[in-house]
Amino acid sequence: MPSIRQHSLAFSLRSWDLTFLKLLYRFYVQGETEIALAGEYNGQIVATLLGTTRPQGFYKRLATRYFPLFAIASLKSLLQQPSIFPRLVRALFYRGDAPLSATGGALLASVCVDPGIHGNGIGTRIVEAFESEMWKRGAKFVYLTTDFDNNQDTQRFYEKIGWSIESEFSTPEGRLMRRYWKMRPTD
Ligand SMILES: CC(C)(COP(=O)(O)OP(=O)(O)OC[C@H]1O[C@@H](n2cnc3c(N)ncnc32)[C@H](O)[C@@H]1OP(=O)(O)O)[C@@H](O)C(=O)NCCC(=O)NCCS
Repeated sequence: MPSIRQHSLAFSLRSWDLTFLKLLYRFYVQGETEIALAGEYNGQIVATLLGTTRPQGFYKRLATRYFPLFAIASLKSLLQQPSIFPRLVRALFYRGDAPLSATGGALLASVCVDPGIHGNGIGTRIVEAFESEMWKRGAKFVYLTTDFDNNQDTQRFYEKIGWSIESEFSTPEGRLMRRYWKMRPTD
């Protein structure tokens, strides 16, 4: 059975291979209000989960913490794909995709399990480890957004582990999304 632990990845960031994704991961590992969990099996990482108790202003904090690396990575991405400009600007004003009706939620930003071992309970265990940690850190609820279309397996996964639909919305690019949440259990 894999063990779940907090990531302590310490990969180096050299300007030649600097990517926005690497900065993002590093921030989840190092940020004080962020969390990065890893599921390990036989010394290999087979699952990862990223989240934060402070979704609002996430990208602004990332940009501030890693300036000027953030500027270099953004410029590189922009040169490769200029169409990302509006998304980049929006990221700086990111409010965390949080539910409008409540405050104090922790965002589950990403979870993935090695495709070779899907369906073995690892996703459930890593999300449950995230939930316990977020309750310890004082979150009132946990939430996430996921695609509305062609995503039934993932939606079933969250519903099976007690998350419920909070709302549905469309991104400025027209991508239909569904927001799930789960309340902190009462003591
Ligand atoms: C969704 C995901 C994290 C679930 O992890 P997992 O370890 O496969 O899930 P578990 O074994 O704990 O739970 C199994 C349940 O999840 C659901 N499920 C979702 N995707 C599945 C898949 N590819 N294979 C098997 N079950 C899957 C099923 O409802 C299943 O229950 P069932 O077998 O009774 O129908 C994983 O499948 C994954 O990494 N998917 C791709 C990335 C993704 O969609 N991430 C979420 C983005 S918001």
